[in-house]
Amino acid sequence: MAFTLSPLPYAADALEPHIDKQTMEIHHGKHHQAYVDNLNKAIAGSENENKSLEDLVANAGKISPAVRNNGGGHWNHTFFWDSLAANAGGKPSGKLADAINSAFGSFEAFQEKFNTAGTTRFGSGWAWLIVKDGKLEISSTPNQDNPLMDVAEVKGTPILGVDVWEHAYYLKYQNKRPDYLKAIWNVINWKKVAERFEKWLQQRGMPCPPGLTWRRHLPQSDMNQAVAFAQLYDAARFGRQDDALPELRKLLRELEQQS
Ligand SMILES: [Fe+2]
Repeated sequence: MAFTLSPLPYAADALEPHIDKQTMEIHHGKHHQAYVDNLNKAIAGSENENKSLEDLVANAGKISPAVRNNGGGHWNHTFFWDSLAANAGGKPSGKLADAINSAFGSFEAFQEKFNTAGTTRFGSGWAWLIVKDGKLEISSTPNQDNPLMDVAEVKGTPILGVDVWEHAYYLKYQNKRPDYLKAIWNVINWKKVAERFEKWLQQRGMPCPPGLTWRRHLPQSDMNQAVAFAQLYDAARFGRQDDALPELRKLLRELEQQS
């Protein structure tokens, strides 16, 4: 089934004065629409035609450059529109605020690091706040890649993504990407970001992959093995690494032989 472009979750002028109406109209109606159209063309008549967007994105590097660019473009922009809201901004609260303080020292230090990631991404790309191995991290990706992709240098679960392509800011901010990144904090939808973080926290309590028992197999004596186990376990549970489950089983066999 072909993918379609959903309407923006707010009016095109809702984010004024921080993001102008014309930019939103072109960004959503032309750029995002083009990613959707080109993704549909790239998968038409192929075995990928009925796969979910999440599945296409997770395997983008193995499928094709067209699916990587346009599947990523569709996923990233859908995620981006939801990351913004009118009358938003401010600071997060609750568990998300605690996690940000714990990972970066303070909200201000987090913002600075995030803006640096966005500003220093050469050419076009994205800045991300992700959960990786149980901790919040900042990363950036080129073009329309994202941290869910098999090709991502830094993999994780995104909870906030900001578009740093020129098409996201040029009409209002021209070449001044730092000014756009400074303004965007006024429209970040922290309620949505916190929801995504909560979802991740709930998934964390998911049962072990079939046939594995965390408590029974957790190595007690060797810290390096325990860390390797925990990382593979996490990757297997969230489907972030194709060979995580076989690797985990291999490690378990070695541990059982040792015990
Ligand atoms: Fe964009």
